[in-house]
Amino acid sequence: PRQFFVGGNFKMNGSLESISKIVTTLNEGNITAPTEVVIAPPSLYLLSVKDKIRKEIAVSAQNSYIIASGAFTGEISPHQLKDAGIPWVIIGHSERRTLFGDTDKLVAQKTKTALDAGLSVILCIGETLEERESNKTIAVVEKQLAAVKAEISDWKNVVIAYEPVWAIGTGKVATSAQAQEVHHALRGWLSKEIGQDVAQSTRIIYGGSVSAKNSKELGEHLSHVFQLVRMIAAQPDVDGFLVGGASLKPEFIEIINAGS
Ligand code: 13P
Repeated sequence: PRQFFVGGNFKMNGSLESISKIVTTLNEGNITAPTEVVIAPPSLYLLSVKDKIRKEIAVSAQNSYIIASGAFTGEISPHQLKDAGIPWVIIGHSERRTLFGDTDKLVAQKTKTALDAGLSVILCIGETLEERESNKTIAVVEKQLAAVKAEISDWKNVVIAYEPVWAIGTGKVATSAQAQEVHHALRGWLSKEIGQDVAQSTRIIYGGSVSAKNSKELGEHLSHVFQLVRMIAAQPDVDGFLVGGASLKPEFIEIINAGS
């Protein structure tokens, strides 16, 4: 039994005021599901969020570097995250890969350094639209994981986030069948390449346009997107979500509760 996991990736959004409001909303929200919840505000706000957020919700950085300290202006040390009491880091987000040159190898090295520093890692992988349309999806995500396998042996503190690039920020959520197919393949890869135990215990979460809309506005009826999201959550190999835009809104609580 894998605990349902929901991450909120704020990306480079928010202000002191708006993030403080999000924290208040989350602190007052009715979390009814036994979901592990982690939010990733921009690094500037990590400490203040950590101090104010309810104890059921952990905080995460959005990136960290491959070295503990030194002359690396502008980078974030995983050891300093650990020192500051930040337990999680997102590594390999597609925006890091496409905009900031994080290669499969660098992502793997960042994962290793973060784990060695004592952090838990949300490791992001996923294919572009072009790769999907040329039937390379499974090959791409397996190659991204294989690079990590070359660097680490202990997967205990890793959550894998499957985020198809074409679904991120586009409003185009994957179908439950598309998500399940890839998650199943990833679990198969873990079983074959790492071991049956790791395959059974590792959370594989889905990211890309996950949203609830506001079901209150719609009365008793769930929004169309949220129905799709709940169908994804019900798939046997889907263990949660990594949420971008909707994690900045009150509907994030409904997504947290979607696993029950
Ligand atoms: P959206 O939920 O805004 O599509 O972003 C997904 C994502 O990239 C989470 O890391």
